[in-house]
Amino acid sequence: MLRSGVSRRWQESRPAHQEHIKAGRGAECHNAAMSPSTLSLTRPDDWHLHLRDGDALRAVLPHTARQFARAIAMPNLKPPVTTTALALDYRRRIVDALPKEGPGADFEPLMTLYLTDRTPPDEMCRAREAGIVALKLYPAGATTNSDAGVTDIRKTYATLEAMQREGLRLLVHGEVTDAEIDLFDREAVFIDRVLQPLRRDFPGLKIVFEHITTREAAMYVAAGDEQLAATITAHHLLFNRNAIFLGGLRPHYYCLPVLKREEHRLALVAAATSGSPKFFLGTDSAPHAAVLKEHAAACAGCYTALSALELYAQAFEAAGALDKLEGFASFHGADFYGLPRNTGRITLQRQPWVLPESLPFGAQQLKPLCGGETLNWQLIDEVVHEEPA
Ligand code: NCD
Ligand code: ZN
Repeated sequence: MLRSGVSRRWQESRPAHQEHIKAGRGAECHNAAMSPSTLSLTRPDDWHLHLRDGDALRAVLPHTARQFARAIAMPNLKPPVTTTALALDYRRRIVDALPKEGPGADFEPLMTLYLTDRTPPDEMCRAREAGIVALKLYPAGATTNSDAGVTDIRKTYATLEAMQREGLRLLVHGEVTDAEIDLFDREAVFIDRVLQPLRRDFPGLKIVFEHITTREAAMYVAAGDEQLAATITAHHLLFNRNAIFLGGLRPHYYCLPVLKREEHRLALVAAATSGSPKFFLGTDSAPHAAVLKEHAAACAGCYTALSALELYAQAFEAAGALDKLEGFASFHGADFYGLPRNTGRITLQRQPWVLPESLPFGAQQLKPLCGGETLNWQLIDEVVHEEPA
């Protein structure tokens, strides 16, 4: 029974930009005559990122810092980042791992806390004062390092009340975890069972529905008020679930929420390229050592930070919508978070290059998504010519 119990009430009032989502299937046409050879964008931000810690952090951080001015640092470390003090320590470790000069030296991590059943409401004032921007809701058991996650959303109501008061955003991993719900339906069921009541009870809380993967989620967000937005990953724009099984089980395409059918991918492409400010870039780049991906119980997560913008550019170009990339990558997220837009610029060049198959990851190896494949676009580091003294 596909999507049993999922109501369609929210589809009744549909703003104009949702028509793009309905028309998604026709959107993917590429007009070569209009293809530019360079793309200049306001420096973008990554609104959903896993930076890990220690050697792993040092291995992956330069990739993101070179591409993005800021990123939301997800708090699912082991142990999770549950307090302001832990988040400030983690922030310090991230800043210490940045390149001391050159591209990325000025990267700014935006810190989040991991919401638990027991997060004290009075921590919210401290969090806001310390510059924490959001809390992440992981339903317990939904994904990597989510064991300490929320077992029942009602247990967090006093904390959500305090977040709403303090202006802290709620970032949601939008999947139910009940064993009886099919894995591919968990996002759609989450909308009805959790998100809908949550938005009713906290109308002033800003919510980001993270890494949406379904047509239902894209339509739900498009139809919502300005308190609701969504991030979309590059891999969910580029691939459908066939990618996981083509020619054998391909664990590097396994992430959570899992890739869905083609109709869902098309709805996500339509949403991302619609120009709606409710959709913005969040890579969900989630590095795991290759040995743990190529494993009998493969870890969930795709590593995309090395070539994030190139992958998004590929997806937007395939949809004939390169002109919509800057809003999605550089403006909508900052506007939603109430942060200033970046002022610097980055340049992508149409210059085919082969993504490395493997990267060092501490003592281990990290395999980027699409490793060994050719990408059409390449981010170029601006060469700064020093004036002779
Ligand atoms: C993420 C990770 O590995 O931390 N994995 C993933 O598949 N996306 C966790 C998450 O965002 O769900
Ligand atoms: Zn994530």
